[in-house]
Amino acid sequence: MSESALSELTQREQIATRIYPSADEACAYVADAISQLIQQRNEAGKPTVLGLATGSTPVRLYRELIRRHQEEGLSFERVITFNLDEYYGLSGDHPESYRRFMQDQLFDHIDIKPENTHVPDGLAPRTDVFASCHQYEQAILDAGGIDIQILGIGRTGHIGFNEPGSGPESRTRLVTLDSLTRRDAARDFLGEENVPRHAITMGVGTILDARKVFLLAWGESKAPVLAESVEGPQTESIPASFLQLHKNCTFCIDKAAASRLTRERHPWLVGPVEWDSAMIRKSVLWLARKTDKALLKLTDEDYTENGMADLLTEKGSAYNLNIDIFNVTQHTITGWPGGKPNADDSNRPERASPFPKRSLVLSPEPTDDVFCLGGVIHRLANQGHDVTVAYMTSGNLAVPDPDARRAIELINEMGESIQDDTEVKHARLLEQQLNEKGLLGEDTPELRQLKGLIRRGEARSSARQLELAPEQLRFLDLPFYENGRYRRFKTDEADVAAMVKLLEEIQPHQIFTTGLGQDPLSSPALCFDVLLSALKKCKDSAWLKDCLFWLYRGPGAEWEMHEIDMAVPLSPDELEFKIKGIYQHQTQRSQSPSASRQSENSWNLASELNRTTANYYDQLGLSEYEAIECFKRFEPHA
Ligand code: F6R
Repeated sequence: MSESALSELTQREQIATRIYPSADEACAYVADAISQLIQQRNEAGKPTVLGLATGSTPVRLYRELIRRHQEEGLSFERVITFNLDEYYGLSGDHPESYRRFMQDQLFDHIDIKPENTHVPDGLAPRTDVFASCHQYEQAILDAGGIDIQILGIGRTGHIGFNEPGSGPESRTRLVTLDSLTRRDAARDFLGEENVPRHAITMGVGTILDARKVFLLAWGESKAPVLAESVEGPQTESIPASFLQLHKNCTFCIDKAAASRLTRERHPWLVGPVEWDSAMIRKSVLWLARKTDKALLKLTDEDYTENGMADLLTEKGSAYNLNIDIFNVTQHTITGWPGGKPNADDSNRPERASPFPKRSLVLSPEPTDDVFCLGGVIHRLANQGHDVTVAYMTSGNLAVPDPDARRAIELINEMGESIQDDTEVKHARLLEQQLNEKGLLGEDTPELRQLKGLIRRGEARSSARQLELAPEQLRFLDLPFYENGRYRRFKTDEADVAAMVKLLEEIQPHQIFTTGLGQDPLSSPALCFDVLLSALKKCKDSAWLKDCLFWLYRGPGAEWEMHEIDMAVPLSPDELEFKIKGIYQHQTQRSQSPSASRQSENSWNLASELNRTTANYYDQLGLSEYEAIECFKRFEPHA
């Protein structure tokens, strides 16, 4: 794209924003900037001062810096670091403290001097916090100020822990965490109630003093707040928007995080666009929403008054455009997610043959399948397809301790009643381990195994509601999950090998999967990466040439109308079946998916989303359904 076309498209952006196809590419760019500065300073015998963030966002950047240290000799001997924040009340060796995080993710793998690394003191006594924060600011000044500051962004718009209400003058201080921020941290702390309520954070003013700022963001969950920070007014309700005041700040983000920027979302509003079929579909569906009209009721005036006059000129009339998009949208609807046998399939999302199909549903954790496509699984099974649901990870990290304790008591009592010593002994061992690890300690392998088995039981019971037999379920227990913790997972060849084995055994005709566009360190995104790597290994297999891929969005959100390629309506009864299936996941009652969306009761979220999609179809003037599950076609070979 030419410079002038790009600046036309980005005219609403108040912060330089670079969009990358993947987080790794963005990290390579930022790592280049950091390494160049460190090398220059090292050659001049001078220090480099870095401001660092924690959370999942910078993990890949740190991995790249570690790689450069280990493989390319990048030396951190003269580097001085200041972290943005620390939970108040946590000691540096607490598993969830930011000091611990930095040691694990970066400091322990490079040649930085321990005395050169600074993280706010989470244990400063309440009466000393003010002085301790002041000293932190002073230490930054004494080091010569921050050369490069790395930031992530929270869904509240926070940078560091500067929650809404923080002004551009704010300095390092003790703050109260927003409830959304605490909910986002709930998985790490195994429950929202364990997440600290306060933190010490550099202020927005402290951040703005850095000479260069890079903000990184990945995944669709960050998209709304990013657009507000970049294109919205400077406001205390989105503290990141104050980065607009900085003269040398760059946002480096992936495509999913950029998806709400005007240049991605409504490019036709800011400049000329190429009206290919995808752009036409997106814009006409947007117009119908904007004007609150059914597709076939859009008029020439609607088009001209909403910045789409050039499309109208190109296509002649609203009438033609409306009909085209109406038809495309109607053709997404099917009651036959596996294809309708012996029917004309020229306008159906799935092929009629072969019939029956081998349908493979990939579920990163044991709830994703029923939550996102419980209705479709039920239908596929009822329509005679050969369905396999593969649970890619055991999901054991999401089982709360009280549920594990209940299971241990059951094993113990059963053992005692049938006088089985081995069983009783094992129950006692588990109980002892549970007591010893305390509220936030890591589970032992035995406890993880038990928790994994609890989730298997729930998955079986849920699948039974959907009329699947236990033999139709596979539990892959991918190793990356078994050896890791949230935000710190790392996949390798063993994960890919397990996936290849499954694919080659099933040889599916269609695969339902998820994870595209999500936080790259989340389980769904990692499972998706594992799938893509496995597909590369299967590239010569005949089945792959004949396999269609259907993406579901994930438990917290749904595809936008223009992204939907297959919409499967559910009757009120089918929705009930699905909800009953969801209810079998007893241990997940108080867990996310509401972590990624606010909802009074996360168990209702699936039906809320399915009903909302059905309403959209209705509002567009298509048929009226109770609920709809929807999917986007994906071409792994493209
Ligand atoms: C962490 C920090 C926070 C995070 C933000 C995003 O030191 O300052 O502002 O950057 O909460 O967290 P993740 O990266 O986990 O999405």
